[in-house]
Amino acid sequence: MSPESGIETVRRDYHALPVQSVGGEITVPGDKSISHRALMLGAIADGETVVRGFLESEDCVATRRAFEALGVRVRDEEQGTLRVSGVGLDGLKPPPDVLDLGNSGTAIRLMTGLLAAQRFDSTLTGDESLRKRPMERVATPLRAMGARIATRDGRAPIEITGGARLKGIDYAMPVASAQVKSALLLAGLYASGTTTVRSPGPSRDHTERMLRSMGVPLDITDDGLTVSVSGPQRLKGIEIDVPGDLSSAAFFIVAGCLGATDGLLIRNVGVNPTRTGVLTILSAMGARIELRNARTAGVEPVADLFVERSELKGIDVPPELVPLAIDEFPILFIAAAAARGPTIVRGAEELRHKESDRIAVMARGLTALGARVDEREAGVIIEGGQRLRGGTIDSHGDHRVAMSFSVASLIADGPIEIRDTAAVATSFPNFLDVAAACGLSVTERAGG
Ligand code: S3P
Repeated sequence: MSPESGIETVRRDYHALPVQSVGGEITVPGDKSISHRALMLGAIADGETVVRGFLESEDCVATRRAFEALGVRVRDEEQGTLRVSGVGLDGLKPPPDVLDLGNSGTAIRLMTGLLAAQRFDSTLTGDESLRKRPMERVATPLRAMGARIATRDGRAPIEITGGARLKGIDYAMPVASAQVKSALLLAGLYASGTTTVRSPGPSRDHTERMLRSMGVPLDITDDGLTVSVSGPQRLKGIEIDVPGDLSSAAFFIVAGCLGATDGLLIRNVGVNPTRTGVLTILSAMGARIELRNARTAGVEPVADLFVERSELKGIDVPPELVPLAIDEFPILFIAAAAARGPTIVRGAEELRHKESDRIAVMARGLTALGARVDEREAGVIIEGGQRLRGGTIDSHGDHRVAMSFSVASLIADGPIEIRDTAAVATSFPNFLDVAAACGLSVTERAGG
């Protein structure tokens, strides 16, 4: 029983059998980051926003429910298309209850920025994993803008007192975070004066692209690291085509590198350059990945990815690529275990603050399967090149850990039991179907 919701929760486990090869053609569901932003920006725009290819996952549904509770009408059309009736910059209504954002860091942090600017009070919370994650990274700069926000020891629940008059600030983020940048830009839409966010390195720029396409002028430096918005700004409803999520495709890109003897084609994947660190890192490891039919979906670049079985070699991952591949390290660790020679990851302390401590949880899982892993404070060294043995992994409720160990079945000599996999539904609800379609043998069981 979940103490928060009172809902009976059944633990789910995966059972992954060793397989030799994968192949064929697959598609992955819509991009999570873009789906969240389409709902949020569509909600406060003037007029309707039509979102095609919306990701119907638990995280994005949590955002949808939160906006419905804030008085926004969202209608389903044919599969994967949503029509959001924008209420305008000042049209959100006080929510009747606490807003529960489930497992989603993006939802809670971006909404903190947005709700800090409203006339009404609100409280945001989430599941056990989300309530362990740091929230002062958004609360502190928002307070400097005049927001009234209380966290519980730096974590959710987050209590926002409405009616604050926000003013623009010039803020240098200590870490490159798209969530922090986006939360401040959302608050900046309402603030008087200019809000400037400076980043120590690149991070995903979906918010900037979408705001501009909705008619909001932004000043962005050529390197993309400094973004300014002058409030108040109104947004225009638009049509948004959500591309396939590169972070979901990444599991199959690595699967292809490990076993696509005749190639694996992944259609319609977002390849925004602030997200493609995983492709750069894998290519440096010797991966054979071809971008075909490059095009744009609205303001986002898209391509089909053709991946072939590759002889991977270990590399020293340049730390500046870490924010560009921030969600792909669990699956990159599996690629590193398969690669010849050591792979060194440094400057990746942020991985300890994701849905789980991804450095510790991945190191423990790989070690359980016989890999040689040296865990460091801000990274890891993986001595690759051996086959793995079968064994039992605890995903610690982290969707990307669960999916990564499913792909490890391509280099394992025995079955891999993956515990606590229900969270896969937060980002990739049909993962098992797509996995089966390309030849992986992963089944789900109710856990004991
Ligand atoms: C996201 C930003 C990243 C990423 C997360 C989604 C977003 O977090 O890890 O899964 O949609 O803005 P940080 O920006 O905090 O690194």
